[in-house]
Amino acid sequence: MGKMLHEPIVLDVNHMMSDVIGFQYGIDPCQVDGMKEAASAAQHNVQKNRGTGWLGWMQLPYDQEEIVSHIERVAKSVREQFDTFVVLGIGGSALGPIAIQQALNHLHYNELPAEKRGGPRLYVEDNIDPERMAALLDVIDVKKTCFNVITKSGATAETMSQYLIISELLKKEVGEGWAEHIIATTDREKGNLIKLAKENGFELFHIPASVGGRFSELCPVGLLPAAVCGIDIREMLAGAAAMDERCKTDDVWQNPALLEAVLQYIAMQEMDVNVQVVMPYADSLKYMADWFCQLWAESLGKNVTRKGMAVNVGQTPAKALGVTDQHSQLQLYTEGPYDKVITFLKVGQFRTVTEISHGCEQFPDVAFLGGKTLNALIDAERRGTEYALYRSGRMNQTIVLPEVNAYTIGQLLFFFEMTTAYAGELLDIDAFNQPGVEESKIASYAVLGNQNEKYLRKAEEMKGRPASKDEYIL
Ligand code: PA5
Repeated sequence: MGKMLHEPIVLDVNHMMSDVIGFQYGIDPCQVDGMKEAASAAQHNVQKNRGTGWLGWMQLPYDQEEIVSHIERVAKSVREQFDTFVVLGIGGSALGPIAIQQALNHLHYNELPAEKRGGPRLYVEDNIDPERMAALLDVIDVKKTCFNVITKSGATAETMSQYLIISELLKKEVGEGWAEHIIATTDREKGNLIKLAKENGFELFHIPASVGGRFSELCPVGLLPAAVCGIDIREMLAGAAAMDERCKTDDVWQNPALLEAVLQYIAMQEMDVNVQVVMPYADSLKYMADWFCQLWAESLGKNVTRKGMAVNVGQTPAKALGVTDQHSQLQLYTEGPYDKVITFLKVGQFRTVTEISHGCEQFPDVAFLGGKTLNALIDAERRGTEYALYRSGRMNQTIVLPEVNAYTIGQLLFFFEMTTAYAGELLDIDAFNQPGVEESKIASYAVLGNQNEKYLRKAEEMKGRPASKDEYIL
């Protein structure tokens, strides 16, 4: 492996702007200038509160020396003792570890022989599909597996039911030493997992109170699974710190996250462009799009401002993969409604070069590919797609990662987090809560017959829904 490239990621918004894609389609630079004051206020508010309230994640690149050393020690011992590492978690407690593993490790990591992997196999179980749990248990040996239970609240039903199944199984299969197979990552005080961890002596990592689930990738939530699988977590944090530096100015034309937040704000609020498709042209970045979707949707989809005024704002994030989805979604993007921004994630230099063999000389349209590389082909297809969108007046932008490595991924994570925080400020909403998720949680507990007063009341309320009509069921 060569030396890790330490270059900045680049945000290219040319195709968002009306002087490039046409005045009827893009954003006028004057609109951005018109928001300079609001942008500066957003920047000052976020910077002034860094490290406090729900902005604890802004300090993660700096404040974790001891924690990082602890993570590295535990990761080493996990690698020595276990052949499989399973994360039990959901939402912000799972999407980061999935995205990072896909980005920074071999694309078929679990299938590699142990000596080539450099770490245990990794499974991140972020659903409670009964078939999935059964399938996991078919392919792992719990005696050789370490389970990392991750839940900030320490109360999430999905994660805690997985914990119940696994702890029971460990007690049966491993016996006395079962607790050594569990690492808990949770809040320092709140919830039940912390109590269980203390009661049973699990290895323990904390999620700072001021770091919400979807902003937690750069704390032990994401750093431990990454370190266990041999990823350089110090480089991730250094990348995040480098992006933080770039996001400190209140000049909207110099601060990439602030510019991005302003552009998306104008797109949503002034142009009804309410969908953002994140389209990486690299399999390694496929799940970064998933991680972004949760961050953007759960943070910005809100019905009231901070002062309680009804607003119903948000931009629906969607994911696509280049080139695969050129053959699935692109027709809609180029000719469907003008309601989307496409955000390409481009890789400057792939970690490998794959040459296309010569052959089929009798078919010139096939033969011309021979001698070129898949690298050139994927880049040409990205440029072709970008051009098709430009020609049809569809706003698109590109984030360039000079190379996919721990340093650039740290930058990308922090860029999206800062953009989300700034966008929350501009929209004047609380980007750090998720009250809309609560209703479904409470209703599910009511359906399952939880006898707590709150759920009994919800069960009563649910009975008031009109009965299903047979004529609507075919
Ligand atoms: O961003 C969030 O806060 C949520 O998506 C949570 O991460 C998710 O609900 C899981 O919560 P917890 O970590 O408390 O189990």
